[in-house]
Amino acid sequence: MNPELTRRCRIGTRLVGMVRAFAVGRTRRLCRAPAQVAVKRRIGWNYLPREIRTALQTKIATSPIVVPLWPLPCLCVLTMSVLQERPLLELSRKNLSICILDDEADLVELTSRRLEQAGFPVSGTTSTQEALQKVRSGSCRVVVADLKMPGMDGLAFLEKALQCDPGMYVILVTGFYAVDTAIEAIKHGAYDYLCKPIDYTRLLKTLDDLTDSFTRGLQIRDLEDKLLDNLLFHGIVGRSPAMLEVFDLAKKIARHYTNALITGPTGSGKELVAHALHQMSPVSQERFAVCNCSALVDTLLESQLFGHVRGSFTGATETRPGLFEYANGGTVFLDEIGETSLQMQAKLLRVIQNREIQRVGSPEVKKVEVRLIAATNRDLRAEVLAGRFREDLFYRLSSIELRVPGLAERPGDIPILVQHFVKKYGETYGKPFQGLTRRAHIVLLQHDWPGNVRELENVIASAAITANSDFIDVGDLPEHLQRSRRHTSSSAAAVWSPLPLDEVRSVHIQRVLEMCNGNRVRTAQVLGIGRTSLYRFLKRSDKPASVAVRRSA
Ligand SMILES: Nc1ncnc2c1ncn2[C@@H]1O[C@H](COP(=O)(O)OP(=O)(O)OP(=O)(O)O)[C@@H](O)[C@H]1O
Ligand SMILES: [Mg+2]
Repeated sequence: MNPELTRRCRIGTRLVGMVRAFAVGRTRRLCRAPAQVAVKRRIGWNYLPREIRTALQTKIATSPIVVPLWPLPCLCVLTMSVLQERPLLELSRKNLSICILDDEADLVELTSRRLEQAGFPVSGTTSTQEALQKVRSGSCRVVVADLKMPGMDGLAFLEKALQCDPGMYVILVTGFYAVDTAIEAIKHGAYDYLCKPIDYTRLLKTLDDLTDSFTRGLQIRDLEDKLLDNLLFHGIVGRSPAMLEVFDLAKKIARHYTNALITGPTGSGKELVAHALHQMSPVSQERFAVCNCSALVDTLLESQLFGHVRGSFTGATETRPGLFEYANGGTVFLDEIGETSLQMQAKLLRVIQNREIQRVGSPEVKKVEVRLIAATNRDLRAEVLAGRFREDLFYRLSSIELRVPGLAERPGDIPILVQHFVKKYGETYGKPFQGLTRRAHIVLLQHDWPGNVRELENVIASAAITANSDFIDVGDLPEHLQRSRRHTSSSAAAVWSPLPLDEVRSVHIQRVLEMCNGNRVRTAQVLGIGRTSLYRFLKRSDKPASVAVRRSA
């Protein structure tokens, strides 16, 4: 007989035995290990075709398999056809780490063994402190705790565990079952309440429910992460209509602008938008130079922007090019342009009009080819009216204007920004947070965010340092946010009173005026009314400022 044929037949016979062993092992005990051992001993695991290996690892047989073995590919097909998808739940059990806490060591051992056999990662202890330590360190998701224990009882343990990690699940078990205590335990946050001796079928059912929701949670977080990536616009997070409009406009103008003005309150993301504009422009491969105009006095700012020649002023020991030359061919970003002096504005106007610069102390005029983006948190129109900003420069700059809205105008962005920063700082500090607790979310949603996204980022960054559980809770937030939460909940009812409409209007106008730092032009814009109407309303109201302060106090 052909030796190759003989060899294949031998393998085939072995495979029949192996597949049978596997099928029986699986159907009787739902356990893969014995079958795999059989496979390895008889013909070598690696010799099996990959499809069969994968099938054996991930599927279970529903009935003993008898397969015609020749040729091998046919075996694969037939084998696969009688194997069935392994239930997802069974595979997911390994994700749910469990701690068994009981003062009786025998019970700890017995329960641990049963749950381990079912596929859960289990650790056991008779010490409440050790169990709390596990909760704190995040090494278990579920604690099955005895209700009556010396030192700390199950309810006290439940409270402490939830304080450490609000995302924990605690299942209480007791030898003295009473409906009242069961209700009490559930009210305090227990996930389930079982009686002793433990009915393992019931316990497994509870744990499988948890595994199910835990796995779903993981899948949802996965999807959210993917969604978050989709909601990123050149590193800017936003999905509110106001931000989508900004992205849209940025995309439209990016190819064509030479000068652009970005306005918006402090910390709203103006610099990020400037970066995005540069990245989308045809000069994205060239340099992007940033100058913070408010950080330098006039003489230094001039030298920083236009450069200087040696000896042009004290300390100018060598000739140096400025940012306009450095970024020639690319983009210059002038942050806080509203803070520049009128003299400086005149020099900037020359660059914008003629694309020419002159180093400090040099008569030579140089041509530069740069795109210019300026940003400010001031209301430049009002500054022009007040004579603090050159009108010609303003019109030159604002031919293309992008307004980045403050966070209070787009509360819908808060949840994804939170998610973004939780992920970012979780990675920075090596803490894989699952998110914020509901109550912490509510506190963030109720805050006014005068410092906008920068303030929110700082809040999450500091909370990520202090938080020790999987979820960031109210206690991890800065003190002022916690205080405002207490204040809101205690005084929410007292704030409202049945005022006449006129008074409501003047209180509201006054508040907006305060928010805009007394800037009436901006106030009128925010209120959506003309300036004349605003003056008329202000005149009409008696003592608006004191009313507003009294009512909000
Ligand atoms: N939409 C956003 N998505 C992600 N991060 C943001 C967003 N907006 C702002 N940030 C972050 O907030 C911080 C402040 O942003 P940025 O410096 O762009 O604000 P700004 O408007 O220029 O503030 P300022 O007026 O004070 O200069 C940065 O760390 C930035 O990464
Ligand atoms: Mg800025």
